[in-house]
Amino acid sequence: MSFNPLLALSALTPPPPDMTEEYDGLEFRWKMLTFRPALFKIEGYFLAAVVAYIAFYFIGKQVNSSRANKWFKSHSALYESQFTKPIQRGGLTQDGNSDFFVFSTGRRAISCLHTTFTLRPRHDLFQLIYQTLWGFVELDYKVYDEIELNFTFKDSSSVPECVWAIVAKDELKNIRNKRWDLTFTKTTDNSALPPSLTVMSEFADITENLLKTHGPLALGTLLSNPAILAHFRSISLTDQPRGRPYHPIPLAERSKHLILTLAVPSSPEETLPLVKAAFQLVDVIAGEGGWGVGRSPASGKGNGVGLNPSLRPETRMKLKKVREELDKELKEDLVKEKREAQEEEKAAAKKKAEEEKLAKLSAADQKKLMERDRKRAMRKTQSKTKVR
Ligand SMILES: *[C@@H]1O[C@H](CO)[C@@H](O)[C@H](O)[C@H]1NC(C)=O
Repeated sequence: MSFNPLLALSALTPPPPDMTEEYDGLEFRWKMLTFRPALFKIEGYFLAAVVAYIAFYFIGKQVNSSRANKWFKSHSALYESQFTKPIQRGGLTQDGNSDFFVFSTGRRAISCLHTTFTLRPRHDLFQLIYQTLWGFVELDYKVYDEIELNFTFKDSSSVPECVWAIVAKDELKNIRNKRWDLTFTKTTDNSALPPSLTVMSEFADITENLLKTHGPLALGTLLSNPAILAHFRSISLTDQPRGRPYHPIPLAERSKHLILTLAVPSSPEETLPLVKAAFQLVDVIAGEGGWGVGRSPASGKGNGVGLNPSLRPETRMKLKKVREELDKELKEDLVKEKREAQEEEKAAAKKKAEEEKLAKLSAADQKKLMERDRKRAMRKTQSKTKVR
C-alpha cells in the first residue's frame, strides 16, 4: 500500500465548515479560502484572553518597574547626600517581576543600606486577583507596595543589643508572623504617638530615650503628621534575626539593624521626611552626627553618646540577661537535638544488626523466630485488653 499524503491530511484536519449553508455574517475571502469569523467564536474568545493575559504581564511589569524607579529617583538626591556609593553599579536591580533592590554603602555609623521594593504582583493577573480578594477576606491583611530600608550598623558599642519598634496597628499581625525578634517585646500604646501606632519594646527606658527630641529629630511629632503617617508601616531596631535561630549565633555573625518599612505613596516624594528621619535616627542611636541620645541639643557640637550609654545600667543588665538566657536555651536545644539524633542512630544500628542476624539463619529458623515474635506481640496486646 502506498502512502497517500492527502488522505492522511484529511484524516488529521476536522471536516471543513459547510459553506453551502445560509451565512450572512462577516466573511473574508482570499482565492480559495473563506474565513467566517462567526464560526470561530470560542476560539476567538480564547485567543483574546491569551492576548490580554500576555499584555497584562508586560504592562504590569512595566508599571512596577516605573513605580520603583520613580520612587528611587525622587529619593536619589537624599541617598547621594548620605552615601559615597548610593547605588550599586548598573542601578536599580530587578529581582523577579515585582521585587527590586538598591545597595548603598559608604556612610558614617552604618556599613550598608539595603533598600528593597516588594511591589504588588501586577504582572500576574491571577495572583493579583487572589491577593486583592484575600485583602477583603482577611481584614488584617493589607495589600500595598512595600519598601524596606534595612540599615546595618557598623560594629559599635554605642548601639545597644535590643529589640524595639514602632508599628502601625493594622500591620501588627503581619509583622508578628514575619518577625520572631519582636517576640522579645511587649506591645504598648504611647501618648507621644498617634493612636494608630503602637510601641513594641523590651524596656520602657529604650522607648523614652528614642522618643525624646534629638536635635532636628522628634519621632512623635513627625509621625503625628497625617501626611507622613499615611505611608508609615513600621520602624524597628533589632539585634536578632527574623526567624528563631537553631544555635547561638557566633559573635562575628551578629549585627544590629534599623529597619524602616513604608507603603509606596502615589507621589513618591511624600516619603522623603520619613527616610530623612531614619538617617537621623541611625545617627542618634550610634551617637554620630552631632546629636545623640542623652545629650540635650543645647549642649553644643560634638558627637553624642549613642543609645547604649544613655540607657540606665539596670536596663543594660536586663538586656544582657535576656540574651544570655536565649543563648543558653539555644544551646540546650542543640544538645537535646544531638542526643535525639544519636539515639535514633543507635536504634537504627540495632535494627540493622538484628536484620543481618536473621538473614544469616536458615529458612526454617527464620520462620521459627518470626513466629515467636508474632506470638510475643499477640500476648502483649492480649494482656493489655485484659487490663481494660
Ligand atoms: C536586614 O535585617 C535583618 C534583621 O531583621 C537581617 O537579618 C537581614 O539579613 C538584613 N539584610 C537584608 C539584606 O535583608
